Amino acid sequence: MPALRIGLMGCGQIALSTHLPVLAHLPDVQLVALAETDSGCLKKASGFAPKALTFDHYEKLLQLEEMDAVVICLPNHLHAEAAMAALQRGKHVYLEKPLATNLKEGQKVLTSWQQAGTVGMMGFNYRFNPVYLDLKQQISSGKIGPWVYARSVFSTPLRSILEWKRSRQTGGGALLDLASHHIDLVRFIFHQEIIEVSAKIDSIQTEDDQAILELRLANGSRVQSFFSISSVEEDRLEVYGQSGKLSVNRYLSPDVEMNGPTLERIRLRQLWRSLKALIHLPYLFDKIRHSNGEPSYRKALVHFVAAAKGNRPTTPDFYDGYRSLEIVAAAEESAKTGKMISLPDAVR
Ligand SMILES: NC(=O)c1ccc[n+]([C@@H]2O[C@H](COP(=O)([O-])OP(=O)(O)OC[C@H]3O[C@@H](n4cnc5c(N)ncnc54)[C@H](O)[C@@H]3O)[C@@H](O)[C@H]2O)c1
Repeated sequence: MPALRIGLMGCGQIALSTHLPVLAHLPDVQLVALAETDSGCLKKASGFAPKALTFDHYEKLLQLEEMDAVVICLPNHLHAEAAMAALQRGKHVYLEKPLATNLKEGQKVLTSWQQAGTVGMMGFNYRFNPVYLDLKQQISSGKIGPWVYARSVFSTPLRSILEWKRSRQTGGGALLDLASHHIDLVRFIFHQEIIEVSAKIDSIQTEDDQAILELRLANGSRVQSFFSISSVEEDRLEVYGQSGKLSVNRYLSPDVEMNGPTLERIRLRQLWRSLKALIHLPYLFDKIRHSNGEPSYRKALVHFVAAAKGNRPTTPDFYDGYRSLEIVAAAEESAKTGKMISLPDAVR
């Protein structure tokens, strides 16, 4: 089967550190075109794909006929228009999150996608991280009994925030940047729809850079989460069940940690964990050396390439992207009104 001919739009931070190195080394992919407005970034991107044609705007890249698919890593406020333009030209689309910055645009992307009939995959890559897949499996196998509550944190340090990430209008803020991922993970891991949302949103350093969410799921359980783009680096999820607790701390361990329900069992686990920390030393050294060694990006892109080559539907798709956006919009409404917001049934 011939290689999938891919054009990449937006060769900024994440594309240069992740998407380009991954795509450049996939055997069944040919990077045929790159689009980037910043000439320095475009030059760096060309280093990964010297034969690819280069363009200074994504619209010019889309004029290229000899291309099967696009990977979109543009700033968030350009996602909807770029995805629609690519779909109207019959391309398969891998779109970094979020689907769009508001529901009206998100709905238009869904319509274009339904009309195109091509693969539309969302960059909710954490679904492909082995530690979350393990967590999902352990919950569904009943390891902690029926789960009763979960809490999560996804937070990044202030560093120098990109200009477009500083304002909600251009797609910035903790909800679109970070919460969109955990909202998707909650739906995926618990295999439940989110039916109610309440939220508090604050602007500490930049607009809407901190949010606290409470989600109620269809089975009545609740998930509480903290998101910040102005705090410490952390990504974890803890799930409480009737007979134990499961925890994932993505930056610190490749394993799902299990605690029994009683103090005695918890202390025994703690002892075991201290010993096991030695086993994790190579993992931690590797994380220090390759800070962006997150395995899920590659797995997600491999998944997309296989789906696009076979022209078969795959998840997480644009419906998942739309649902995540609906929950972000409901959280924003809740923060404005102070009310718990009920969500409509998910479209699919
Ligand atoms: N899945 C993840 O975990 C993850 C992680 C980081 C970023 N992202 C997403 O990736 C996307 C890019 O994020 P980033 O941090 O790399 O931002 P970035 O600003 O570094 O990259 C975007 C690039 O697009 C370029 N660009 C702007 N307008 C353009 C146009 N008209 N044509 C061509 N190029 C244009 C910019 O010059 C910039 O280099 C965002 O949607 C973000 O949400 C996802």
